Amino acid sequence: MNLLPNRVAVKAHTDFSLPKLAEDFARIHVLAYSDRKQKLSIKDDLRKASLNEMQKYQLESWLKIFKNFLSASQGEKLPRIYTATYDGQVAGVAFFQDNHFHFKDSESALMTSLCVAPEFHRKGIARSILNVAEQEIKSFGYRELALEVECDNTPAISAYNHMRWHQSDRPNGEKGCYHYYTKDI
Ligand SMILES: CC(C)(COP(=O)(O)OP(=O)(O)OC[C@H]1O[C@@H](n2cnc3c(N)ncnc32)[C@H](O)[C@@H]1OP(=O)(O)O)[C@@H](O)C(=O)NCCC(=O)NCCS
Repeated sequence: MNLLPNRVAVKAHTDFSLPKLAEDFARIHVLAYSDRKQKLSIKDDLRKASLNEMQKYQLESWLKIFKNFLSASQGEKLPRIYTATYDGQVAGVAFFQDNHFHFKDSESALMTSLCVAPEFHRKGIARSILNVAEQEIKSFGYRELALEVECDNTPAISAYNHMRWHQSDRPNGEKGCYHYYTKDI
């Protein structure tokens, strides 16, 4: 049974060679952080750049990151990317990988870069991505989803609390203030 809102569709991707995927990822990422430019990992002199210029820069970064995942990704369970469309338009993205970053040989999957373009906020896009990802990743044998969120990212923290994620006291990010959130699946 499809429990997603009518106009939302979620798709999983494991082929990191697709340029369109990196383009969508860069575009949504820049739009989602457009009011928090200081949080985008871009050079300082680009912070005043137009959204288009930032997207170009982000695209280069994501293409490099995706290239690194190419060998590991084809046909594998994780890493994978989820995209959500709203009336056929790509509106949100998220990246999931094995949580080696925090724990070796764990049953934990780490989500990074959940982003929804502002015009699609509060339409159930993030919830839809997480619902689909949760079911699929659980079927791969993982028992936990995890993420890091900046301590001052109040909207995202509210959303995770709403969606029954829990703040954990496990070690968090190495730079800046991050909360570590988990959800049993
Ligand atoms: C956080 C973010 C991903 C939420 O996406 P979204 O598609 O608007 O969220 P949804 O519509 O699926 O909402 C899911 C739940 O969270 C709640 N929620 C979403 N945004 C919220 C906000 N700003 N304040 C309070 N609650 C919020 C919703 O009410 C919903 O709960 P409900 O179903 O009980 O009503 C989006 O705001 C975003 O992209 N922010 C910028 C990038 C970012 O910070 N990403 C997180 C990195 S850790």
